[in-house]
Amino acid sequence: MKKIGFLVVLAFSLAFGTQVVSAQTHNIQVDLKKVGSPIQKTMYGIFFEDINYGADGGLYAEMIKNRSFEFPQSLLGWTTFGNVEVRTDGAPFTNNPHYVRLSYAGHNDKQTGMDNEGFFGIAVKQNAEYRFSVWARTNGDANSGIRIELIDPESAIFLSQKLTVDSKEWKKYQVILKSPRTETKARLRIFLTSKNSLDLEHVSLFPVDTWKGRENGLRKDLAQALYDLHPGVFRFPGGCIVEGTDLNTRYQWKNSVGPIENRKLNENRWEYTFPQRFFPDYYQSYGMGFFELFQLSEEIGAEPLPVVSCGLSCQFQNKDPKAHVAVNELDPYIQDALDLIEFANGDITTKWGKLRADMGHPASFNLKQMAVGNEQWGSLYAERLEPFVKAIRAKYPTFKIVGSSGPSSDGKDFDFGWSEMKRMKADLVDEHYYKDPQWFLANANRYDNYDRKGPKVFAGEYACHPKNRKNNFESALCEAAFMTGFERNADVVYQCTYAPLFAHVQGWQWRPDLIWFDNLRSVKSPNYYVQQLYGMNVGTNVLTTVENKLPLEGQEGIYASSALDKNKNELILKIANMSDLKKQINYEFAGLKKADRQATLTSLSSENPDVENTLDKPLNVTPKTSAMTINDKYFSFELTPKSFYVVVIKL
Ligand code: AHR
Repeated sequence: MKKIGFLVVLAFSLAFGTQVVSAQTHNIQVDLKKVGSPIQKTMYGIFFEDINYGADGGLYAEMIKNRSFEFPQSLLGWTTFGNVEVRTDGAPFTNNPHYVRLSYAGHNDKQTGMDNEGFFGIAVKQNAEYRFSVWARTNGDANSGIRIELIDPESAIFLSQKLTVDSKEWKKYQVILKSPRTETKARLRIFLTSKNSLDLEHVSLFPVDTWKGRENGLRKDLAQALYDLHPGVFRFPGGCIVEGTDLNTRYQWKNSVGPIENRKLNENRWEYTFPQRFFPDYYQSYGMGFFELFQLSEEIGAEPLPVVSCGLSCQFQNKDPKAHVAVNELDPYIQDALDLIEFANGDITTKWGKLRADMGHPASFNLKQMAVGNEQWGSLYAERLEPFVKAIRAKYPTFKIVGSSGPSSDGKDFDFGWSEMKRMKADLVDEHYYKDPQWFLANANRYDNYDRKGPKVFAGEYACHPKNRKNNFESALCEAAFMTGFERNADVVYQCTYAPLFAHVQGWQWRPDLIWFDNLRSVKSPNYYVQQLYGMNVGTNVLTTVENKLPLEGQEGIYASSALDKNKNELILKIANMSDLKKQINYEFAGLKKADRQATLTSLSSENPDVENTLDKPLNVTPKTSAMTINDKYFSFELTPKSFYVVVIKL
């Protein structure tokens, strides 16, 4: 077994009193005799929202922007030349009625066609394959044709492929393009190559190598990063986009299912929410809709947690009560929530269960919980939530309902929200807090005195925001320290999800975020690694962990919690050192007999609190793991300043 330089593994035969004690020493007792509260499998999860180009231009691998010509400016993202018209007559997809007609430019030397700029460019890798597809029809009896090209920023063509359109009826055509080189900022160009005109709709380009190889697929590196987090729960699709800036633009899950070509485009409120980060081309194609999100949830091993509109549009943006659905007109919204449960779980003979089966998933998605409303507050919310609770309880008595406590971590609205949730017997209350490092460190004891008899806590959006709002190591460490409070209070904290999840380096509106990416690369923030360490080491039960009979909640900068994993027969220790000092940690395990035990120790540390992981330097902060043997009921090791450790001991 390897011995690690800085790590001192001692077989203590003496009691703590006789050990070396100094100002930097902490003697911690972990009690294995009393198995504490269960920790939910869902405890550490992820929250996906289409913000920062998280979906279109991000996780959803489509490379063509405005593929169905449905943006309010039908040709946004496209540059046309020659004779190109946008039309709607005889369109193949009723929800997306626009298409383009490419006609002869009028002279042999003139050209008709169009370029697509992609999302911040189209990025391709050398020797990788890309699936170009399009719905098309000819006009007139002769065949029509197009040439598809990829061109670089200097307008040099580096890939060219012909495609014949041979039918007057709308039909899907596809061709595989193999890129001869890597290019980060290409454009896709389509030339009309025939005198006979043709119509094009739903122009699409995907990498062949997507997550699970699906044609309407997800970016493999980004989906893999989610899988690698070992998330217990997957909250989606938002966030504020659930509410919409107005009711018309709220997320309607029914628009996000069925054939992708017919999913109705929606605005994305993150286009304009922050005028200093304005993105006029930010829309939601719903190509990655509720079916795909449920499917992803299953594939990454997380329990799905959809959020539905409660009939309130964004309360920040709508002070006029008339901007919301009247309480007595909520029925269609409530029906949407009930239908969603049927879509996820219903038998394939039911209307929505059948759609799920038709889409390729006859088995249930095993949906157990749903959030009604995102970040809502006040009596406006309570009076709308109540009829949802009644209707859902009546049809699905054991289904878990998540209510909101609003955007603040405390205060009048927060307290009112909680009291209403208790009254309505909501199962979980969603709390949101984006706070500075000091707050996180001072609040590791936040849940110690929560009412154990009321609804459970779902920390549905949280992140430590340092001054520069970057994903630096300091913020990650504060989250690690704070999260020991989640674990210690697992009897009341049911689950948590960091927010937001993704950000495109060129298209972000909000930071910090867990995973950053450009069109070819992605990078895991230090915060990601904290989430991963928790996600990989959940445990099944809390173990009392104290120093001088008190929980470790920041005394001299130390935060600690411990868990037992009954299934894997493991003891899991988590400990963060927020101080600038080295610490000698002496653990004593009550109830553990002397024996040789295999263990791993994983550390996350940096001397520079401001350091980030970037696309160019992705490995500045990463966990380091070493194996060792522990041979007593004592275990000592040294914590470096500013560090987080997870020790897993096989019992
Ligand atoms: O996570 C970003 C936003 O923060 C979410 O959309 C919203 O719920 C919160 O205000």
